[in-house]
Amino acid sequence: MFEKVKEYAVDPIMIGADLFAQDPREDKLNLTVGVYEDENGNTPILEAVKTAERRLADTQGTKAYTALTGDVEYCTTLGETIFGADVYAASGCVAAQTAGGAVALRLMADLVAQMPTRPTVWLQTPTYGNYIPILMAAGANWRAVPYYNRAQAEIEFEQMLDGLAEAKPGDLFLFQGVCNNPTGADMSPEQIATLLNRLETQGVVPWLDLAYLGFAQGWEADCMAARQIVDRFPECVVCITLSKSFGIYRDRAGALFVKTRAADRGRMERALTAIIRSSTSHAPDHGPSVVRTILQDAVLKAQWLRDLDKMRRRVAGIRQEIVAIEQRDFRSDALAFLGRQSGMFSLLPLSEIQETALTRDHGIHVVKGGRVNVARLRGADISTLVGAFHRVTQCNDRS
Ligand SMILES: Cc1ncc(COP(=O)(O)O)c(C=O)c1O
Repeated sequence: MFEKVKEYAVDPIMIGADLFAQDPREDKLNLTVGVYEDENGNTPILEAVKTAERRLADTQGTKAYTALTGDVEYCTTLGETIFGADVYAASGCVAAQTAGGAVALRLMADLVAQMPTRPTVWLQTPTYGNYIPILMAAGANWRAVPYYNRAQAEIEFEQMLDGLAEAKPGDLFLFQGVCNNPTGADMSPEQIATLLNRLETQGVVPWLDLAYLGFAQGWEADCMAARQIVDRFPECVVCITLSKSFGIYRDRAGALFVKTRAADRGRMERALTAIIRSSTSHAPDHGPSVVRTILQDAVLKAQWLRDLDKMRRRVAGIRQEIVAIEQRDFRSDALAFLGRQSGMFSLLPLSEIQETALTRDHGIHVVKGGRVNVARLRGADISTLVGAFHRVTQCNDRS
């Protein structure tokens, strides 16, 4: 009967990784994968993480189940670190520990899909490639509005607001905090303020997804939008993954925070518990325990923040180097937008033909649609990328 299993679409990022593996060229460059790399091409384990792991190995007294919504101390410590202790305490957020951000997103998607009247989840275009598969797998309603024009390398803010005019009270708007994946283009504080006013006026619930806290301006500054939203809105949702900020990708640490009105809190807690029970069940605890240990220890926290800042500065430095090398070698600012964006990802303004030529003729692999991970560029890679970009775009063919 398994011959009846239908064909599933494979994530373009995974397809990109396969194509890279099959490329026999020695000087090929893989800009597809979404993890940070240092100047030696390693995804390092941070010192604070190593110390916390050793401490846990020595002191952890049990491996018994945690609650279905995870360790309360982890959720509270994380909530206080993101939103600030006062805002978090006043919010009364219902929180759940999750296996990374993907599971937090899926948990929320399941919740909205199971509501008696399913709200619509509004997405930006383009957006993180897993939102639509997650929402569809859950059976949630979704619609999309514009966000970013790849050819112009600009946010389409007014078009986004125009699209949102059709959102109904009780719908949700899913958008990212800092270091937008895949565009690298974040809304300015003024645009966020305008957006939040709009959501409030229309009664649309903000659903913020945080994946790269600390990679834009630094941890505190990067948490500001989340703080504002949780402080201001009576109902809102925040998903977070700690994969990138702590470099613990495979250990799966994340959380879902849902702010409800006081009367709905107990029901929300029971709903999330029931959905977790019948889906992912208890979240893994190693990664979250590492995060909790670091956040609760002033010395480890300071060490982690220093290492996070080092990662941030490396990524920002690569962006500035791309801009400088393009100026030096081509007297061009076609890639200058990369210096104004933040985080690991950006979209190269290439047509499909140019994108194919970048891989075929220059061995540079990008995610379909032009996403590159700039953190994977080292040394001469930057000139290689800039040179290849200019060669494939020389014909000015953007068709
Ligand atoms: C915007 C965004 N949200 C959520 C996630 C999911 O994170 P994780 O794989 O750690 O669950 C990612 C991962 O790349 C992401 O970029």
